[in-house]
Amino acid sequence: LPMTNTHEAPIGVFDSGVGGLSVLGEIRSLLPNESLLYVADCGNVPYGEKTPEFIRQRCAVIADFFQKQGAKALVLACNTATVAGVADLRERYPDWPIVGMEPAVKPAAAATRSGVVGVLATTGTLQSAKFAALLDRFALDVRVITQPCPGLVELIETGDLVSPTISNLLRSYVEPLLAAGCDTIILGCTHYPFLKPLLRQMVPESISLIDTGGAVARQLQRLLTQRELLATGPAQETQFWTSADPEDFRKILPLLWKTSGYVRFFPR
Ligand code: DGL
Repeated sequence: LPMTNTHEAPIGVFDSGVGGLSVLGEIRSLLPNESLLYVADCGNVPYGEKTPEFIRQRCAVIADFFQKQGAKALVLACNTATVAGVADLRERYPDWPIVGMEPAVKPAAAATRSGVVGVLATTGTLQSAKFAALLDRFALDVRVITQPCPGLVELIETGDLVSPTISNLLRSYVEPLLAAGCDTIILGCTHYPFLKPLLRQMVPESISLIDTGGAVARQLQRLLTQRELLATGPAQETQFWTSADPEDFRKILPLLWKTSGYVRFFPR
């Protein structure tokens, strides 16, 4: 298939569910002229508890879909999908600009004063070789406390950002980090930035919360600039696909995405 290589072509962005909307928001504000396509693989969420093989397959299916849609670039708005699948995708599409994301270990190691950094992420991300390599490379001088957070993603998928249930679960994951002396906490899953207001109520003001949505948007901007593929606008309306019930996605969208969008079914 020929790749759409014009500056007005859209950008494909995907996640296991609604989490990547936190990244899509960063892209929208940095690159308002770009037309955006978003696939939420809600029929298979959470990726965090799936095998790398399964996730790689989903990455391939979704990337092929975006190719057919003529996307000029691909963003993996998911840490778990990136550790499992980005290397394969780059091999499969060597000429396609592909942006993945990883927990912000490097900036956190630079920012910490206590020398103790906490990482909230999925089981899949924390168990991956890619994450281990990230620690070896950037975290030799700091102590890193990792905390998998099963259950958080599923609650966020229902639009729950504030209930006592999610609050108690989040607290149980954050308390060990505070007890260990972390002054910097990495939000290593794209769902978690939506919990920032709740997290802020649980941790002292002095604790930094770091995520990489902004850095991903800037990296995308760099790649598009290098290839002279930046859109001049105006952007088309953002299009969404979900592999679960589109009606559920339509209901949750206004909470997590402030402007409108068109939602369709993506075959599971
Ligand atoms: N939002 C994804 C991430 O950044 C994964 C959530 C999931 O477990 O599906 O890791």
